[in-house]
Amino acid sequence: MASQVLVAANRGPLSYALAADGTLSARRGGGGLVSGLSTALAEQPGALWICAALSDADREAVRRGVAEPGVRMLPIDPEVYDGAYNGIANSVLWFLHHHLYEIPREPVFDAEFRRRWGSYVTYNETFAAALAEEAAEGAVVLIQDYHLALAPGMLRELRPDLRIGHFTHTPWASWDFLRMLPDDIRSQLLWGMLGADRLGFHTQEWADNFISGATQGSVPAGPERGVRHQDRFTHVTPYPLGVDADELRALAHRPEVDDKLAALRAEVGDLKTIVRVDRTELSKNILRGLLAYRELLTVHPEWRERVVHLASAYPSRQDLTVYREYTESVRELAAAINAEFGTGDWQPVLVSVEDDFARSLAAYRLADVALVNPVRDGMNLVAKEIPVVSEAGCVLVLSTGAGAYEELRADALTVNPYDVTATAEALHTALTMPAAERADRTKRLAVAATALPPTQWLTSQLDALRT
Ligand code: F6P
Repeated sequence: MASQVLVAANRGPLSYALAADGTLSARRGGGGLVSGLSTALAEQPGALWICAALSDADREAVRRGVAEPGVRMLPIDPEVYDGAYNGIANSVLWFLHHHLYEIPREPVFDAEFRRRWGSYVTYNETFAAALAEEAAEGAVVLIQDYHLALAPGMLRELRPDLRIGHFTHTPWASWDFLRMLPDDIRSQLLWGMLGADRLGFHTQEWADNFISGATQGSVPAGPERGVRHQDRFTHVTPYPLGVDADELRALAHRPEVDDKLAALRAEVGDLKTIVRVDRTELSKNILRGLLAYRELLTVHPEWRERVVHLASAYPSRQDLTVYREYTESVRELAAAINAEFGTGDWQPVLVSVEDDFARSLAAYRLADVALVNPVRDGMNLVAKEIPVVSEAGCVLVLSTGAGAYEELRADALTVNPYDVTATAEALHTALTMPAAERADRTKRLAVAATALPPTQWLTSQLDALRT
């Protein structure tokens, strides 16, 4: 049956595992987008989520015709997938939108880039075709993220009757970066995005960057923010995704999390805790965070043996050399800090490399200070989750590069992500903040963090598309 509401994203709400005896079992998929969207979409009866089959087990499920209700996996050729996901989405578009290029060497747009771009086009065409096939007349479609920037334009050509939205979970590149793309590629990218009726971003800044890039460097003022293109108007609006307080608190108080909290308490004793939780991701600025912690221990030696840094940095995108190297550098720097300052009874940094949400929730509950210092980040939900479940009244040290900065800056200690000394001082201020002030700030942060929970975030976009 054709669907009235469709979502398309690289990752799906579930993935399959293939047991040795050949049985397939479905388990929940990972990542911030998946957790936010899964809850929100559950309230849209008959909705369909179209995603890529990511693993051999997923492709095997498609081959056998195994499917869960409300999910369609696309079995994309592994070479095409690699070119699109690793080659373009994560090596070009991710770097562009996060301003991560080391300019003397990157970016390089050569024949190999063009080959990968061909895969990216095919990948987007596959999604557009599946959406066109599954959507009911006049249905609402919400396409997710930079992996699928061309799909809105492609889908509009196939099905002009649909109401098409696109939401970007990353920042959007400033014009100075966007203009690095070869002209024809930049035009294709913008044409794809402007195929949507509505474009959503986490912050006003990313929305303004999009308008500015699409209009070559200037944001036109006007009551309705957007871009006019080929006789159509594409609305460009911030929808700052927040967290669902009830759901998160319920998750954070499951027996499994209680057990992990007890184990953490036993490990850290009465030491103060500075907590961070990230994918090991270049944009998260984990290395400068560790350098700031080292500077704190150097400049304020009174914290030695009184504080511990719980850093959860779980591996991500390990097919890419630069990510593997970054992960290694994080491990090395943490080990160097432990070697420099550690004593028989005290290990200054405890790094966890597992993607263990229960342990992260336990660390959130325990945290005295949360360090969220990305150089540039679409939103950063960790900054919003910690104040909601914190028990000790947690001080948030937040960089100006996080999308969450737009909403949380009043009650966080804000830092320039490149300024290690300022970050070290902010950590010191956070550790010494009086309990009453910490509690007040945490309460206000929790209110701001829950302003637009996932269900409302999704329905506001769907409602806007239907009008
Ligand atoms: O922030 C963009 C994003 O694609 C999220 O939607 C997702 O949670 C995260 O990056 C993880 O990326 P990947 O799917 O490559 O692991």
